[in-house]
Amino acid sequence: ETINVTGLHLLPGAIDMHVHFREPGYTHKEDWQTGTDAAAMGGVTTVFEMPNTHPPTRSVVELRQKQECARKARVDFGLYGLMAEDNIDELEALAEAGANAFKCFMGNTFGNLPSPSTGAMLEGFEIAAKLGLRVSLHAETASIMAWRQAKLQAAGINHPLAHIGARPEIVAIEAVGRAAALAEWTGARIHVLHISSAGELRPLAEAKARGVDITGETCPCYLMLDSSDYDTLGSVIRVNPPVREAKDSTAIWDALKSGVVDMIATDHAPHTPEEKRRESIWEADCGFPGVETQMPLMLTAVAKGQITLEEYVRMSSVRPAQAFGLWPMKGRIAPGAHADIAVVDLTRREVIAAERLHSRGKITPFEGVETTGAPIHTLVRGRFVQKDRTLVPDMAGHGRQVTDIQKMPAPAPRNTDQSLAAVLGQKG
Ligand code: NCD
Ligand code: ZN
Ligand code: ZN
Repeated sequence: ETINVTGLHLLPGAIDMHVHFREPGYTHKEDWQTGTDAAAMGGVTTVFEMPNTHPPTRSVVELRQKQECARKARVDFGLYGLMAEDNIDELEALAEAGANAFKCFMGNTFGNLPSPSTGAMLEGFEIAAKLGLRVSLHAETASIMAWRQAKLQAAGINHPLAHIGARPEIVAIEAVGRAAALAEWTGARIHVLHISSAGELRPLAEAKARGVDITGETCPCYLMLDSSDYDTLGSVIRVNPPVREAKDSTAIWDALKSGVVDMIATDHAPHTPEEKRRESIWEADCGFPGVETQMPLMLTAVAKGQITLEEYVRMSSVRPAQAFGLWPMKGRIAPGAHADIAVVDLTRREVIAAERLHSRGKITPFEGVETTGAPIHTLVRGRFVQKDRTLVPDMAGHGRQVTDIQKMPAPAPRNTDQSLAAVLGQKG
């Protein structure tokens, strides 16, 4: 099969380390077919899917159940196993059964999964270090969050901005710092999900400087929206963690360009329009779809000269592949080398419209946004799954779990006492 790609660019397909496809349990919001259709339309060739489904992916039984659901996937995928207070004993079996990474909810979010104590995290990190798998963190401190939120709710505050007030940056600063300390102590590899504030960047950068194997991601909403959008978007913009001030976006852009923030993910978190449009911000579900709009939005930033195309590929593909052991892959050359490809037209203009999204969550804070640049075709392992901005028939089920190609790199040699001495030596 030949196609004419004159004037188009071939990029490695985006690798999105943070999606919620809702199946099993919440299929009115999304399922593995609609979720991976959206990914293919968005130029995303591999997704890592989160464990806050119903039931949560907390032991081998639930992992097998999810693998069964994922048989209809159109793109390749990894599966997160939950790391919680009461399933630390299951982590090894989860890894053996094919979990590709772990997810630890340090703060409460959709699914109401209780956050583990620091003691359970320490033990979980020790096991994860031995297994070599990365632990991704919803890094917000539950106790601080709950205390502040309860006070605001009790005071009857119902303005979208209250959502920011409910979560001052300290909830993330404390959580990133604590997780980094545990990672340094245990040798675990960790990944900070959905970085939303300038405050988190410092503990992230400091941990990197100390040699902790820590990576970070941000999402388009934290780069492109800020508190000035609350009045127009209302409860639609509600997301965990919240979109903050313009100065936060600026700091995150800088950190992304310098590499302190490693990658772009989407936190694709679909809910129905009814679940999003609520009178009280506290009643609206948190999150919105993103896997289909990430590439057009970020290519628009390329078109505007905010980042280069090379920087975009580093953020969307190279760094996630490196961090989660998907590179070197088959052929051991580079991401995209086994023909996971997004063929993009950097000049194509589109307008984002929720009703045209392939996700079941047909509501987005980016409604009406004009984008420049879009994936015209998407190939997964050399096969078209999306062609000419249309899903290719009969390719549902083409997606495979990445377990057979994932090879986490050998851990860097480390010695806690020495690195501690080095850090203390620097200060003294
Ligand atoms: C996510 C969801 O709905 O599953 N929601 C969100 O606001 N980001 C959960 C999460 O990532 O915290
Ligand atoms: Zn989260
Ligand atoms: Zn999420």
